[in-house]
Amino acid sequence: MTATDEAALGKVPLRVTHPQRIPSRRYYDREFFELENEHVWPHVWQMAARLEEIPEVGDYVEYKILDKSVIVVRTKAGVKAFHNACRHRGVQLVMERGNCKGKGFICPFHGWRWNMDGENTFIYGRRIFDEANLEQAEINLAPCRVELWGGMAWINFDDTAASVKESFGPVTDRLDARNMENLKVEGWWSFELPTNWKLAMEAFMEGYHVMRTHPQLFQALTEDKIGYFGGDAEGKMPLKEASAEEYIDKTITQLGRLHTGMAGMVLATDIEIAERLRGEVVSEDMATVYSTFSRRMKEEIFAEGQAKGLPVPDLNVVDATMPAASVEYMFPHYFVLPYYAGMSAYRIRPLTPETCQFELWSLAFHPEDHERITAPIVMPHDSPDVPEIPRQDYGNLPRQQLGLHAKGFEYMRLSHQMEGMISNYQRLIDGFLARLDMAKLTKAQHAVNDGFNRPINDLGF
Ligand code: FES
Ligand SMILES: [Fe+2]
Repeated sequence: MTATDEAALGKVPLRVTHPQRIPSRRYYDREFFELENEHVWPHVWQMAARLEEIPEVGDYVEYKILDKSVIVVRTKAGVKAFHNACRHRGVQLVMERGNCKGKGFICPFHGWRWNMDGENTFIYGRRIFDEANLEQAEINLAPCRVELWGGMAWINFDDTAASVKESFGPVTDRLDARNMENLKVEGWWSFELPTNWKLAMEAFMEGYHVMRTHPQLFQALTEDKIGYFGGDAEGKMPLKEASAEEYIDKTITQLGRLHTGMAGMVLATDIEIAERLRGEVVSEDMATVYSTFSRRMKEEIFAEGQAKGLPVPDLNVVDATMPAASVEYMFPHYFVLPYYAGMSAYRIRPLTPETCQFELWSLAFHPEDHERITAPIVMPHDSPDVPEIPRQDYGNLPRQQLGLHAKGFEYMRLSHQMEGMISNYQRLIDGFLARLDMAKLTKAQHAVNDGFNRPINDLGF
């Protein structure tokens, strides 16, 4: 680390100085929250919309982050984004979602108008204004940087930041290999959680919690999913000694639990395929059972996808050449859990130092005429309608948020082997707060977006 970086980092309040210890005040201190709002959020790529939300020309959706609001709109010339403020006296032009084809955006205060390309088309009583105050470029909507990747529109308030793919790093190639951009929404839920946004992100960064938080998942474990489940305290897999029948039986039960517990990720069709493979995979050698069952599942999922004309990737090829981690992160607020061909996706946005907006999608390959879901089901965070597994995940979080305030609780202590991602994430935030060089921060993002259950990484500063 250079002396300049060291000096800049040294000025960051509540900085992570010991990589295995995260100061508890980072999760509720107002000054720290405001520093993040000033130095992290305005410089990072944020998932603003799924492209399915705006399928037709004129469709728009509002993306909110802290005190900012952005309009993401599909135009004839592609997806564009604008800061959501009238150029007259600042009124927000749109709320939520809609279609502006033929009408454009109309300010509800004095009726100024714009077309979907952001060009001002009408000023009521124009003659009462000084023309010098109505320069066309000045009264057009202010554009916001937007890029499309992975079936989503991403915005960034920083015009100097590297592109989405350059910022996120190799994770984008791993997800491209799985044709992520062609996935469609099966379900979308949204709720407010009484926790700091980082706490919500961190609940998904390690498999160490599975044993206690998701006991129903801690049963049938396939070799290629060990990373997700983490193993028991000694790192043993409960089914290592099972017979092939037992193994397949438990695996199907497990897939069923994942399917219902996540309301997706593992799809109903995956379970049907697994059922068909019962009896087909027989061997004395468990390693062969694991690998054969896994290979046959992926072959059948690919074949079935092809038969239906869906862009399901050849999962055996993808997993051999560019395997994805069980959870793939895109700093700072988005992550996906790829399973076979389906995925779950999460987006977490700060609201206040101790509240955040938590969203969950279930994604799968569907034909074009499949019913399109373009808005979330909004519910209270303790609703029993939230899928079971994420409900278990964030069930602990409000209690954790309260516990962090306890007298004498100065810092979280992390496992350097399995909880390193939390440290990596937090230290990258410190890099942003220290305003380190953007090229360094981009490189550090690659070291942070490197999977799941990861050890503490060198971020280069
Ligand atoms: S504030 Fe929008 S037209 Fe006046
Ligand atoms: Fe979990």
